[in-house]
Amino acid sequence: MRDNVTVVILAAGLGTRMRSEKAKVLHEAGGDTILNHVIRAALHIAPAERIVAVVGHQAERVRKSVTFPGVRFAEQREQKGTGHAVLCAREQAETSGGELLILNGDGPLLKASTLEALMAVEHAGKLGGAILTTKLADPTGYGRIVRDRDGLVAAIVEQKSATPEQLAIREINPGVYRFDAALFWKHLGEVSPNNAAKEYYLTDMVAILTGHGSPIAPLLVPDETELLGINTRVELATADKLLRARKATELMLSGVTIENPESVLVDVDVHVGQDTILESHVQLRGRTRIGSGCRIGAGSVVRDCEIGDGVVLFPYVCAEASKIQSAYVGPFARLRMNTEAGPETHIGNFVELKNTRLGNRSKANHLAYLGDSTIGSGVNVGAGAITCNYDGAHKHPTHIGNDVFVGTNATLIAPLEIGQGAYVAAGSVITKSVEADSLAIGRAHQAAKPGWAKRRREILKRSES
Ligand code: UD1
Ligand code: MG
Repeated sequence: MRDNVTVVILAAGLGTRMRSEKAKVLHEAGGDTILNHVIRAALHIAPAERIVAVVGHQAERVRKSVTFPGVRFAEQREQKGTGHAVLCAREQAETSGGELLILNGDGPLLKASTLEALMAVEHAGKLGGAILTTKLADPTGYGRIVRDRDGLVAAIVEQKSATPEQLAIREINPGVYRFDAALFWKHLGEVSPNNAAKEYYLTDMVAILTGHGSPIAPLLVPDETELLGINTRVELATADKLLRARKATELMLSGVTIENPESVLVDVDVHVGQDTILESHVQLRGRTRIGSGCRIGAGSVVRDCEIGDGVVLFPYVCAEASKIQSAYVGPFARLRMNTEAGPETHIGNFVELKNTRLGNRSKANHLAYLGDSTIGSGVNVGAGAITCNYDGAHKHPTHIGNDVFVGTNATLIAPLEIGQGAYVAAGSVITKSVEADSLAIGRAHQAAKPGWAKRRREILKRSES
């Protein structure tokens, strides 16, 4: 974090080349929006209060998509180019001293360490600023870097205005600029839209400040993938792949084992503790937190969950917005909407829990649905047991006390209370609350007809002969 740096992020454009209803910066890669990735990097340089995002196209949606409190917004009502976008942030971003960092809002791969290096660029004389550059095999579409005899940046020439010689330049402008704030604001009015696109180009500021005797230094970044600007869905997919690989590497270096890392998708804000193992094709989404020493089984998809230490998810578990402590879950289990599984619980195959609390040491090992329920500790829920929590119009709760035994195929019609230590017989349809320590049986009586089967066989034999 540096004192005296203000950041402006340009995010007002539509992004026509995305061919989307949605503004470009709202598209997601690596588990977050393009814009949030850029802000995340900027937060290493300046506090949120000194970051101004320029919004315009779908301004309200873009504002709401920013998940970092304190970030400020300026509005560019008409998109007249990147230079005009910065002008729209003037009131909020102008300072009489210090530095101005301007970032294109469509570069989600930019690393904080690279921004830090840009801020640290020095020169023998006083600089008007410094910009990142990189070299591309195919520079089509990008602004080209024109260097002077001293190796400083004399100008950035946009694709549409470039001469054939300039088009052959492979060093490009990725859209990451640091300027002396006072000089920048003093001369910004000199940018004019006299170019093929009739736009106010921010990139013109390089030649303008150089012309006033304040040179711009380049910082050439060797890894061009970090500076990819997203303009199409193809580039979005490339960015997603790179961000996933970066996250997987970060986790592995922090002590997480990942089997088949290319197959695993972990969102940028997910945290995973040491010695946890992620099996092949796991997806960890949103704000998921996983403790240490866990095993997350192949194909499991976990979104916005809090998972404690030592939890085992067998393969193919879907868990969403749930809390799990030292449990065994799956294979093929579904936990959703505010489910909590306490320590030493077992949730087995084809079991679904919704808005349910399962107490310590309780088990639902096979084929059960438990919805809108609170279940005490030491409870055993048999195979096929179901809480009927929905009557077609309303949801109803089920409370099951400690040490209850719910037999196989029990149908528990909510609202219902089953007292501590009670026993529900297999196959029962339970419609009334059950007292503590009692046995509840609600099933048809078995009738016995001795000799019936033998008589039937004899009748059949006679009719055949
Ligand atoms: C821009 C640069 C180009 C550079 C490239 C890097 C200019 C004139 N050109 O071109 O030199 O190589 O980025 O990716 O700056 N935006 C606004 N308001 C506007 C126009 C754009 O906020 O009126 C925002 C967009 O939302 C986007 C960013 O500015 O986040 C860049 O705009 P884009 O249209 O993608 O510029 P490029 O053509 O890529
Ligand atoms: Mg662009």
